[in-house]
Amino acid sequence: MTQTALITGASSGIGLELAKVFARNQHNLILVARSEDKLKALQQELSAQYAIAVVVCVYDLTDKDAPAQLFSQIQAQNLTVDVLVNNAGYGDYSEFVSSDWEKVQGMILLNILAVTHLTRLFLPAMVARGSGKILNVSSTAAFQPGPMMAVYFASKAYGLSFSEAIAAETEDQGISVTVLCPGPTQSDFIDTANMDNMALANKASTDKIPTAAAVAEFGYSALQRGQVVAVHGLANQLLTFSTRLVPRGLLRKGVKQFMASK
Ligand SMILES: NC(=O)c1ccc[n+]([C@@H]2O[C@H](COP(=O)([O-])OP(=O)(O)OC[C@H]3O[C@@H](n4cnc5c(N)ncnc54)[C@H](OP(=O)(O)O)[C@@H]3O)[C@@H](O)[C@H]2O)c1
Repeated sequence: MTQTALITGASSGIGLELAKVFARNQHNLILVARSEDKLKALQQELSAQYAIAVVVCVYDLTDKDAPAQLFSQIQAQNLTVDVLVNNAGYGDYSEFVSSDWEKVQGMILLNILAVTHLTRLFLPAMVARGSGKILNVSSTAAFQPGPMMAVYFASKAYGLSFSEAIAAETEDQGISVTVLCPGPTQSDFIDTANMDNMALANKASTDKIPTAAAVAEFGYSALQRGQVVAVHGLANQLLTFSTRLVPRGLLRKGVKQFMASK
């Protein structure tokens, strides 16, 4: 039976590339994001290229009712979600004291609440079927506090902890949960997060970081292997491991320096 993957944030970056990887591997797709035009273009491209069914669902997942509305739409269309990919997310580069509250609140609603609610909505049917896969896109940001992006780093730490816990709860029930932790990746993320003042964000640096396609390919493989925590790239693996060895005070200082303006 052809499997169906629901992917949030499928209109650009890592989510769009994940949609391509799932399509190439003969999954039907449910694509979720706010940009209807981009989702429809992707729907046309992938359904024609791979002869798969692609459904477009336009939702703003910072709307607290959106996960339940999306779930109802999927049920009304009699669709089964075999793979849930919680990928949509954004960051904001700012000192917390002067941060834009709307952006901060939206980040918590999208990066934490929507991920949690969608998992709570789709997991019971997976458990009842005795099969299902969940891929949550966190970040290497999950492994340490992030001065200048305090709420973003904390939201990704939530995603890591939540995913590992759900993975442990469901491991004997035919469910696999993978939390993908990319480091800096080429996408719209850096622009959306207003990170252009960071040294990391200059053109020469962004050209050197991995493509969203490479990260998506890695995430898909990790999901198929049933790997729980999947950190992309050797340098990121060493960096995230080292956070366990370095005293917290030193870690905070190091990250503060890295996150500083140009
Ligand atoms: N790029 C990096 O350096 C990096 C590193 C580590 C982790 N990540 C994580 O990777 C994930 C994907 O980010 P990306 O790098 O691919 O960034 P991106 O290119 O900006 O893509 C973000 C996606 O999320 C969707 N989205 C944003 N707000 C939304 C909302 N309110 N409702 C529904 N969908 C929304 C966007 O679609 P619409 O605008 O059409 O809604 C878009 O499809 C995020 O969770 C991010 O935290 C990124």
